[in-house]
Amino acid sequence: MPKTAMPIKESEEKIDNLESQILDAPTKHERMPSPEELLLNVEDAPKITDKLNLFPFDWRVETPRLMEIYENSRDPGWSPSQLPWETLNVEGMTQDQRYAIAYWWALLSVFDASGPAVFARAMIHAYEVHEEDAIRKCFFSVTRDEMNHEEVCGKAINKLTPNGPLGYEPTTELGKLARNNIEWLYHNGARYWNGYKKAVEHYPMPILFSSFLFGEVASSTLFHSMYESTDIPVFKEAFKNIGRDEGRHLSFCLALLKEVLPKMSEEDRDTVTKQFRAGFIFLSGILYEPPEEFWQLPPTFLPAQRLLEEKAREAGFGILTLEKRKENWRTAVVRLKTIVEPYGVKFPALPEIDVDGETVAFDADKIVPIF
Ligand SMILES: [Fe+2]
Ligand SMILES: [Fe+2]
Repeated sequence: MPKTAMPIKESEEKIDNLESQILDAPTKHERMPSPEELLLNVEDAPKITDKLNLFPFDWRVETPRLMEIYENSRDPGWSPSQLPWETLNVEGMTQDQRYAIAYWWALLSVFDASGPAVFARAMIHAYEVHEEDAIRKCFFSVTRDEMNHEEVCGKAINKLTPNGPLGYEPTTELGKLARNNIEWLYHNGARYWNGYKKAVEHYPMPILFSSFLFGEVASSTLFHSMYESTDIPVFKEAFKNIGRDEGRHLSFCLALLKEVLPKMSEEDRDTVTKQFRAGFIFLSGILYEPPEEFWQLPPTFLPAQRLLEEKAREAGFGILTLEKRKENWRTAVVRLKTIVEPYGVKFPALPEIDVDGETVAFDADKIVPIF
């Protein structure tokens, strides 16, 4: 017997004491309710009249391939905080080189750092319109990845320009030009977001996915080229990982479009053609150079950006030259063209990069594509 045990008599007295204090549990009923009786008095629940409601939803899977890709995405295999940031030799760079590289990350942020909110919005919409579980999950997974990409943008900018992109005072002429450009970029980013919010509720999923496809073709192309041409180890590693994620997003889009494109109406196909043109105009802001049809920019913007790009290259940061960017963008777009044309989707003319096709109108208010 353990030394601390109570003598038997004392413990019996304690139990008696406790018994006298017992209260009936509140769930003890005289009799249980009868289901038949209850059913007689059942009232109908108010009808859900709101088209965009979250309930009820189910867990049906119509596109099993999406679920497979989702399973593979659970562990992206990397984390922004685990990248070798300690190898980034900020001290070894001139002030202008720092501004220039941070500038590129700020430019990327317009596309990639808006990713979490953009895809979260798409995910909520997928719930509202009762899309299959696989689509909801795929948006969740992309949102998660985009959060990592956003984190890399933030880390890179803050290592090079603490409190950047806007919370510091640039001390050189090039730094001041970069600051002004970033403010203009964010002005356009805000316009994009306003258009996107409307568009996401306006278009059916197949059209949204076609637009996302363009974004993913663009992003996987961009990060692949940045990976190949960058000599700074931490950024090279980041580009490799982000590029892999973007490739997975591309697979999501392709898996769904393979199912929905053959069933798409003629009218929807025409909308996709228009959206491709819109996507090209928006995404050219980083893949090539920003076309005036969407981008509201001052006359100093492009010359300043060219100077900044040159400076970043000088520090080993692999922004492609304009000519190479054009070639790269063209290759990506032609790849997209060969994916969708067999399904009867006409491709828009993109004279900026010498791609023939349909001439279509551009609506700046309804831009969907994103990284
Ligand atoms: Fe991304
Ligand atoms: Fe993506």
